[in-house]
Amino acid sequence: MTLPTTMTAMVTMGHGDLDQIVLHTDWPRPEPGPDDVLIRVGACGMNNTDVNTRSGWYSKTVTEATTGSAFEEVGDEDPTWGGAPITFPRIQGADVCGEIVAVGANVDQSRVGERVITDGWLRDPDHLDDMNKTGYFGSERDGGFAEYTTTPARNALAVRSDLTDAELATFSCSYSTAEGMLTRANVTADDTVLVPGASGGVGGALVQLAKRRGARVIAMASEAKHADVAALGPDMILPRAPADLRRSLGSEKITVVADVVGGPYWPTLIDVLERGGRYTCSGAIAGPIVDLDLRTFYLRDLTFTGSTVITPEVMPNLIRYIEEDAIKPALAATYPLAQLREAQAAFIAKEHTGNIVVVP
Ligand SMILES: NC(=O)c1ccc[n+]([C@@H]2O[C@H](COP(=O)([O-])OP(=O)(O)OC[C@H]3O[C@@H](n4cnc5c(N)ncnc54)[C@H](OP(=O)(O)O)[C@@H]3O)[C@@H](O)[C@H]2O)c1
Repeated sequence: MTLPTTMTAMVTMGHGDLDQIVLHTDWPRPEPGPDDVLIRVGACGMNNTDVNTRSGWYSKTVTEATTGSAFEEVGDEDPTWGGAPITFPRIQGADVCGEIVAVGANVDQSRVGERVITDGWLRDPDHLDDMNKTGYFGSERDGGFAEYTTTPARNALAVRSDLTDAELATFSCSYSTAEGMLTRANVTADDTVLVPGASGGVGGALVQLAKRRGARVIAMASEAKHADVAALGPDMILPRAPADLRRSLGSEKITVVADVVGGPYWPTLIDVLERGGRYTCSGAIAGPIVDLDLRTFYLRDLTFTGSTVITPEVMPNLIRYIEEDAIKPALAATYPLAQLREAQAAFIAKEHTGNIVVVP
């Protein structure tokens, strides 16, 4: 197969507003390194990490909710998820579904032609479990908002599924994050899990993956999205921020809060946890700075687990759930790659349920 030497790519030129994302039609096509595969991108899903890295929201100098716009005071030292600077230009995009079209010298040639989705966690090959030696696809190296991308062969996972490329491109980041949260909080069929932001990528995945474990699940979402959220199978759906959450919950006993929202409502979420309950968190889209009453934390014997770098077995497990049809995609919309800015504006507006994907 003859491959083109250049490609179309949406390239992020620096931290700032949406106008930092620039269309290039003659960007050099990447060459796979010795341990890499070259993927022709079929679709690439969007995530808040693209937005947060571009805007610099991860910097400790920023204390507001995610807005998608540039922030005035982004620290030079810590503008990314890992607390370190990255270099630009950078092709973002973590959730690729596509086909392997070439491999590096150390990779089995038979992998050419494989349909794959990407595992975003770039690990040190000699220390796969070392969370301190990790990067993220589309952050510390170029990702999938382009016609082609490369990734370590280990990060391209074969998937056999009747789902479309766009549907498969909704899974990797949000579902692996959700499964990582539930794994770290050891959620079982004995739990009742409260999920704020259940209309979102991670929240919808939390609903499905907690149900897969047999837990009882109570979803929280804006009322306009309740019909879509109901399709994900929660046992109960509440509004985004009920005035009296305990009363809204009735006789439900919350053993786990699985949260990516945070923000001003956060103390209310903590307050409904049963004694011995667990709070597991992977995000703070409504604001990273919250009020914690330490008395609630210790007098009620709570456990808090943060979760970002997932353990290596989470992604293969996720592939199995996809192939067994145990989880389903929530694809809200697809846009052409060249309209990534419009797609990201819609993603930031949050009128959708699930995820938005771009297609080269
Ligand atoms: N640590 C990790 O590895 C990791 C991985 C993935 C995501 N995350 C983080 O997790 C958070 C959520 O990600 P996601 O992909 O699930 O997001 P998403 O698809 O954008 O969904 C977030 C949901 O939160 C709800 N929400 C409540 N208050 C909100 C507010 N003030 N602003 C915006 N939305 C609000 C919205 O639902 P309603 O309108 O229905 O209330 C929205 O659907 C982000 O901060 C993201 O960076 C972290």
